This record gives sequence, C-alpha cells and structure tokens, in this order.
Amino acid sequence: VSVAAAHGAELSLTQENIEGALKAAYDKYKNIDEGANADYIPALAKVDSDIYGIALVTTDGKLYTVGDISSEVSIQSISKVYTMALVMDQDGTEELVTNMGVDATGQVFNSIVAIEQYQGAEMNPLVNAGAITTTSLVDGKDGDEIWGKILTKYEQFAGRKLTVLNDIYESEAATNQRNQAIASLMHAYGHIDNNFLRATDIYTRQCSVGVNAKDLGVMAATLANGGKNPVTGKQVTKTENVPEILAVMATAGLYDDAGKWLYKTGLPAKSGVGGGIVAVSPGKFGIAVISPPLDAAGNSVRAQKAIADISNALGGNPY
Ligand code: DON
Repeated sequence: VSVAAAHGAELSLTQENIEGALKAAYDKYKNIDEGANADYIPALAKVDSDIYGIALVTTDGKLYTVGDISSEVSIQSISKVYTMALVMDQDGTEELVTNMGVDATGQVFNSIVAIEQYQGAEMNPLVNAGAITTTSLVDGKDGDEIWGKILTKYEQFAGRKLTVLNDIYESEAATNQRNQAIASLMHAYGHIDNNFLRATDIYTRQCSVGVNAKDLGVMAATLANGGKNPVTGKQVTKTENVPEILAVMATAGLYDDAGKWLYKTGLPAKSGVGGGIVAVSPGKFGIAVISPPLDAAGNSVRAQKAIADISNALGGNPY
C-alpha cells in the first residue's frame, strides 16, 4: 500500500483525475502571497512574479497543463540534473562519486563552508561546487563544442530547440564572482582542471537557458520514463544511469530542504532559483511547476505546494 493510498487519497491516472488534481492545486495556491523572486542575480528580480504554470506528462506521453505554460524563465539549477546525465552518459556513474561525491551537504547551494569541510569531496553534482565541476567534466575540444553538447542534451530532454535568455546570462555573468571563487577552490583541491573559469562561464550559460512549464514537464517525464522522452520517443540518456540520477535528486535536489521534501512527497526533484521545480514519479509521470517567488532555501513556494498536492492525490509517492 503506497503512502498516498494509506492516506486514502490515491486516484488512478485517468484524464479526469489528473485534470482535477492539477486544477485543484492551481486554484488553491494561485492567490497566496509568500516568498520573493531571487534577487542576488539582478535580472531575476525583474521577472514577473505572477507567472504560474503546471505541466504533468505521463510516461505514455500525455500532457496535462494548467495556467501559464508559455512564459519562459531561466532553468537555473534544474540544468544541473541534465548536465549530470550527460557526464554519466559520457563516463559512467562512478566518475562523479569519485570526484565530488553524492552526499547531501546540509548547507546552502552555494556554500563555501561545505567545500572547505572535506576539501571539495563529500558534496554532490547539484550544489554549485559540484555542478560547476560536473560541467568541467564534459569532453570537447573547446568551449563551443562543450556548450553545444550541453544545450543539445537539454533540447533532447525537452523535445524542442532551446535558447539562452541573454538578459539573465549577462546579469549573472556580471555578478558571478562567488561561483568563480567556488570553481577556483574546486580547482585548488584538484577537482577541476585549469579551465575552471571557462567551466564557470559555461555553467552560467547553462543556468540561463529559457524553459516554460511544459518543457520542464517533458524533461521530468523523460526521467520518469527511464531516459526515453515519452513525447518524441527518443532515448536521450542511458536507462542504466537513471536510478543514480534520481538518487542524487532525492538526496540533494531541494538543497538543505531535500529531506523535508522527500518526507512529504517521496519524489526525486530539482529546483531552480528561476522559480521552476521538476519532480519525478518513476514509471508514472514527470511534473513541473514554474512560479518565481522562492522561500529561504531558494525553492519556489507555489511549486513545492502544488507538486506535493498533485502527486499525493495521484499516488505519485514511490514509497
Ligand atoms: O549559480 C547560481 O547561483 C544560479 N545560476 C543557480 C542557483 C540555483 O538555481 C539554486 N536553486 N535553487
């Protein structure tokens, strides 16, 4: 008996039930006034706080949406999952474990204390230090080739061409001294090679890719479906790596609130400071919500509430 069923709430994945769950969550949280846009990247403060869209995509490729599914926000840290998938496809699952680890840091996503504690080990690919390191591991003869591989991977997951939101990229590139310092420390401790500033720039670019709620829903559903995009039918990441990808998301996807999130939903997930969250119910569906106002941990307030309600109503919790 799943947790949701034990709570008497589980509904089967029929069109009627899914549409009902989406609409109920959308309406319930539409008018709440909690959290605030990220502002440590100046351009993020200017994004419309009222953008609010939900997309659920089942593993058989059916798309359900409510609200704003066309406005694009920057993907931000959600990108870290998909660069991690690329590096696992390239090198297998052990490289990341050996390099920076797969453990929760218990610290904020851009913590320098967490790097210092174990000299850049005992971290994970979803905090900034581990993510910039992961980006640095993508093979390529130059920055353009590396960037091309990363963007192509995201496009395969989303099932459409994507572009960088230049205003976000320029704003973040002008203010990413902290990430440069993080990369420099990871270089000093032997986790990133000499190209640590190039890796930081490519990482900044990957965080600035524009996505809408539907893109993120398809990207989540591709992980729910063993790495095969359920809309395009293309295998875009190795099935054998998906359990490890989901494990890192479960451990660290919502940073220092990852434990609370898992307790409530059981879902591997990933947030971004652009306001998106993706969550994966393996074998069932992927779900994404975009809503820019964030809580203190850097996770979208509405997205957390809406995904938890919808997944719990539909029996998404795999435990
Ligand atoms: O490096 C940064 O700070 C941003 N580009 C991404 C951070 C982020 O999305 C953390 N998410 N909750």
